[in-house]
Amino acid sequence: MLFGVLILLDIARSIYARVGYEQPNAIWQPDPAQYAELNWPPGADLPANAPIGQRVYAQHCAVCHGPDGRGNGPAAPSLRPHPRDFTKGQFKYKSTPVGQPPTDEDLIRVVSEGLQASAMPYWRDLLTEQEIREVISYIKSMSPVFQKTTPRPLAIPPRVPADEASVGRGKALFAGRGCSVCHGPNGRGMIPMIDMNGYTVISRDLSAPWTFRGRSTPEQIWLRITTGLAPSPMPAFETVLIPTERWDLVNYVLSLRRPAPGEPGGTLDGPGQQPDLLRRGEYLVRASMCGICHTEINPTSIYRGDTHYLAGGADC
Ligand code: HEC
Ligand code: HEC
Ligand code: HEC
Repeated sequence: MLFGVLILLDIARSIYARVGYEQPNAIWQPDPAQYAELNWPPGADLPANAPIGQRVYAQHCAVCHGPDGRGNGPAAPSLRPHPRDFTKGQFKYKSTPVGQPPTDEDLIRVVSEGLQASAMPYWRDLLTEQEIREVISYIKSMSPVFQKTTPRPLAIPPRVPADEASVGRGKALFAGRGCSVCHGPNGRGMIPMIDMNGYTVISRDLSAPWTFRGRSTPEQIWLRITTGLAPSPMPAFETVLIPTERWDLVNYVLSLRRPAPGEPGGTLDGPGQQPDLLRRGEYLVRASMCGICHTEINPTSIYRGDTHYLAGGADC
């Protein structure tokens, strides 16, 4: 009897699953306010006489930054940090004071060199100098901030010598001015936070300068501390600390450097080696891309990686 009932239940479950699979009662479509689809291959739908900047953008940038620049490309849901929304006019890796847009040189540097340890690739090998300039004027046309202000780079004062006294002052400022709240008392960071747009951003491990997006030359780090990294929570210290104090902090940050993995004495010490098993598993699931098959996709292959990461599967 029991065996018969179990068989019947199993048959019923199979039929239910088969019918449900063939006639799904919901097919997910991305919310166009969040993620926009692209015609494939990207850029194929542009008229033959489309300007170079628009063409380069559609072919190479839209998949992450979205067809209209709102950071809403089909790849965006699974990227941390999220691709930049160009319509908001918020830029992080720049040489200009808070509230001013980046200079063309800043943008050329980011697009040519990429942003290390993020999904933003470098393009100097793939695009010509002219194409890079054209695509930059195209993304500048997406935000009114570039029409309103002419950006002027900050004058960077000469570096304070990185002697023991300066590193010591930097260490005291690091603890006293709140850097340690977000980067940890030892500067190792990696604390998840929410940025002004509601996306996750992870505070930098300051002992790993090879992961600094804006590069780790002393001048570049001085600029980051000066202008902050809005829309992320990293504040600007332009008005809070005098320029030489910011140099002491640069000297302290650079003193934290550990040997990079692959250098003599370097150890693998990334999120894959976390002692906390849950965080390690979280990292490994992402890094081994389990989500490629275990995340819902819509009929045009947009991943639902934001709220439904690992919820259900692709039909593979
Ligand atoms: C594979 C995804 C991807 C592609 C393709 C891509 N980007 Fe990005 N881009 C990103 C991400 C992610 C960020 C944000 C990184 C961060 O905040 O650390 C970003 C940031 C930027 C920034 C902001 C820099 C700043 O100072 O804030 C610019 C400018 C930019 N991208 C331009 C481009 C251009 C131009 C192209 C095409 C030639 C392009 N990107 C292609 C992912 C991408
Ligand atoms: C409220 C939290 C917070 C505070 C306070 C803070 N940071 Fe950060 N910091 C962050 C976050 C988050 C990031 C990563 C931002 C991103 O990836 O967009 C970051 C990034 C950085 C970077 C990396 C820049 C790059 O090019 O990648 C440096 C260097 C840095 N912080 C130094 C400091 C110093 C020095 C202080 C104190 C003077 C400080 N931070 C205070 C949150 C904070
Ligand atoms: C190439 C596609 C693909 C990738 C990548 C993938 N999976 Fe799977 N996974 C599947 C399929 C398909 C099934 C269902 C197999 C079946 O039912 O016979 C499955 C089943 C599973 C199950 C069993 C679920 C159950 O109901 O019993 C677990 C657990 C699992 N996967 C974990 C993972 C993890 C962890 C990763 C990353 C390390 C991963 N998968 C990567 C396709 C994939």
